[in-house]
Order: sequence, then structure tokens, then C-alpha cells
Amino acid sequence: MIRLEGVHKAFGPNRVLRGLDLEIQEGETLTIIGGSGTGKSVTLKIMVGLLTPDQGRVFVDNEEITGMEEDALALVQRKFGFLFQGGALFDSLTVAENVLFGVRNLKPEELGRSDEIVERCLGLVGLKPEVAALKPAELSGGMKKRVGLARAIAHQPEYILYDEPTTGLDPIMSDVINDLIVNIREKLKITSIAVTHDMKSAYKISNRIAMIYEGRLAAVGTPSEIQRSENPVVHQFITGSSQGPIQMPVRSYT
Ligand SMILES: Nc1ncnc2c1ncn2[C@@H]1O[C@H](COP(=O)(O)OP(=O)(O)OP(=O)(O)O)[C@@H](O)[C@H]1O
Ligand SMILES: [Mg+2]
Repeated sequence: MIRLEGVHKAFGPNRVLRGLDLEIQEGETLTIIGGSGTGKSVTLKIMVGLLTPDQGRVFVDNEEITGMEEDALALVQRKFGFLFQGGALFDSLTVAENVLFGVRNLKPEELGRSDEIVERCLGLVGLKPEVAALKPAELSGGMKKRVGLARAIAHQPEYILYDEPTTGLDPIMSDVINDLIVNIREKLKITSIAVTHDMKSAYKISNRIAMIYEGRLAAVGTPSEIQRSENPVVHQFITGSSQGPIQMPVRSYT
């Protein structure tokens, strides 16, 4: 379980999070929605301790990670797989090396099994073993996302964070990735937190959806609760984004 309590985060005068409360339950997929720049990626980074909140507390499995020493935090971070916004593969490494990058400190008994780990993870995301020898430049956008996904699950994390897993993909490839996310949850029983602009994807992959607005939790509920929400902020976001480009209140851009 992950819990954020009253989290504040500012960058200079830019007060991004202003008292965010959010709880992610064991085994669920929770999707965070909200306009561009509302702090969705920042929230994921705070959950895994890559950014520290200015105020508030963060708990992972009932351990408070805010203020934790580096070594202890590193252990907590191993519980997470992270699919970063944009995929972020290392261009100079092969697919196999990219996948294994997430498996820091292979245990001695695992050292001889790295090919097996790569093959298993590529298989889980629907890629053939031959892909292992390729470099990222030789892959399509959808394949890169899959390799990013394979890397995120390679060290068998308890939690996986997906930042915009379908952005930039065509609708068919987006659907393939959505199915993979659902599959990974079901097969590996990983608790997942996703961020997306794509409501179709949010409805498909989520047990619950949480909307961030003006630095706080504006709403949280099941996909059907969110769809039926009478909260004007939620209503505007979900109808705006399902009709094309996101229409957010003008003041979000100022
Ligand atoms: N390391 C940083 N230093 C300074 N400002 C930052 C940093 N990280 C994020 N920000 C700012 O915080 C705000 C929220 O950023 P964040 O990346 O969380 O937005 P987002 O909701 O993920 O947006 P998008 O949908 O466009 O990805 C933005 O205004 C961004 O410029
Ligand atoms: Mg983002």
C-alpha cells in the first residue's frame, strides 16, 4: 500500500502540489488524470522517493519514506518498476542490456540466468527473443514502450509506475499496451499506478481513477463513478479529453 498525506511540492514560485492525499491499495491499478503540468509525474516521483515533498508524508507498505536514509530508501525503491514518460531507453545499450538495467545487483544464483530473465520479460510484453540483440534505434515506438515495460518488470517489483504508457502511439498499439498493463496486473499481481491523458486507456486499465486539480485530489472513484461524476472539474476534463485535445481552464496555462 502507498499513502500520500498532505503532500506539498513547489518549484520556486510554482506551487505544484498543495496538500495532496492519495492512497493506493494492494493489487489495484489506480490511474492519475489531470491537465498538463498539474503534477502527475511529480506525484509518481514523490511516491518512489525520486523527489522529496516540501511538506507532508509518504508511506510505502506502512514505512515512512520521507526523511529516510539513502540506503533504506534504495531498498524501498527496489520494490518499484518505473516506465518513465517517453520510454527513456539507453540508446547505446541493446534491448537485453536495457531490460537487465532494472535488475540491479543480480543475486549470484541469477547471474547465469540473465538470458532467461530477458527472454521471460520480453515474452511477457509480447516480444520475440530475437529482439534482445537489437538497439533502440532499430525499434518502432510501440516496441520501445514494450521494452520499457519489460525493463520495469524485470526485477519483479511489487509496484509498477506507468507514466503516459500510451502517449504517442497509434490507437491499435495503445490498445495492445493497455492489454499488457491489465495482463501484467493479473499475471504478476503487481499494484500499479498509471498516469495518462487518454481516458479510453484510463477506463480500460483502472480499478480506480484519481484526478488532480490545483494541487489536490479533486475526485477519486471507479471508472463508472468518474464517468458519472457531477464534479464540474472532472466532467470538463473527461468530456474534453475524449473529444480530442485536452481543454483545460485557461488559468492552467498562465
Ligand atoms: N525538477 C523540476 N524542476 C522544476 N520544475 C519542475 C520539475 N519537475 C516538474 N516541474 C514543474 O512542475 C509542474 C508539474 O510537472 P509534472 O511533470 O508533474 O506535470 P504533469 O502533470 O506530469 O504534466 P504532463 O501531463 O505534461 O506530463 C510543471 O509546471 C513542471 O514544469
Ligand atoms: Mg507528466
